Amino acid sequence: MSISGPEELEGMRAVGAVVRRVIEAMRKSVRPGVTTAELDAIGDKVMRDDGAQSAPALVYHFPGSSCISLNDEAVHGIPGERILREGDLVKLDVTVEKNGFMADAAVTVAVGAVSEESKRLIACAERAFAKAMLVARAGFRVSEIGRAVEREVRRDGFSVIRDLGGHGIGRTIHEAPRVPNYADPQANQILTEGMVITVEPIIAAGSGRAVLAKDGWTVQTADHKPSAHYEHTIVITKGTPMVLTAA
Ligand code: MF3
Ligand code: CO
Ligand code: CO
Repeated sequence: MSISGPEELEGMRAVGAVVRRVIEAMRKSVRPGVTTAELDAIGDKVMRDDGAQSAPALVYHFPGSSCISLNDEAVHGIPGERILREGDLVKLDVTVEKNGFMADAAVTVAVGAVSEESKRLIACAERAFAKAMLVARAGFRVSEIGRAVEREVRRDGFSVIRDLGGHGIGRTIHEAPRVPNYADPQANQILTEGMVITVEPIIAAGSGRAVLAKDGWTVQTADHKPSAHYEHTIVITKGTPMVLTAA
């Protein structure tokens, strides 16, 4: 969506704040021994207490409240009886609906002590996001975001998963435009003030080729190398973007 007045801005700020609270509650509960279904229930309770609900369940009938993906699973992991173990990378991807507005954010959390490569992967996804914020402004093309993300990811010897990327958001989860994590010439739209999009580097230690798991939802790396994801919902301005899902 493109925000056209104070009511829309207030609606998007409110749902963005719920996303933040859900992520923080789940993040605090990440430890060896907890199941992904337990984490999902913790997040779902925060949504309900806030008068909100899971957008993936609402829009796509996703079989869970939030997407929780481990290690080589990049996105859309289904919460279940899987138990977190020390050394795992867990991606918490939370999309919420409240009063007809939707916002989306994701973090990658280390379970206990993780490998050096995993630490670098988490840091790289966050740094790629930060670099993208410098070019995510009115007057720039959408493709500049992906150019900035991929440059940063390659510098670290990692890959972006090209099949996955950001998107417009607001009244539903996935709106135009697509926001690729590479300099896609087709992403030639000009960013304008008030546009609401996600920026979400989804990166991997190996080739970055992805496959759909047998469950029909989970997207994993083809070479089973670990992946990391970092996402916020932002509003485009003439300067630094407004981050709706930040603390
Ligand atoms: N949060 C995901 C994104 O960043 C969307 C999840 S919707 C689902 O685009 F149904 F696919 F889970
Ligand atoms: Co998301
Ligand atoms: Co998203």
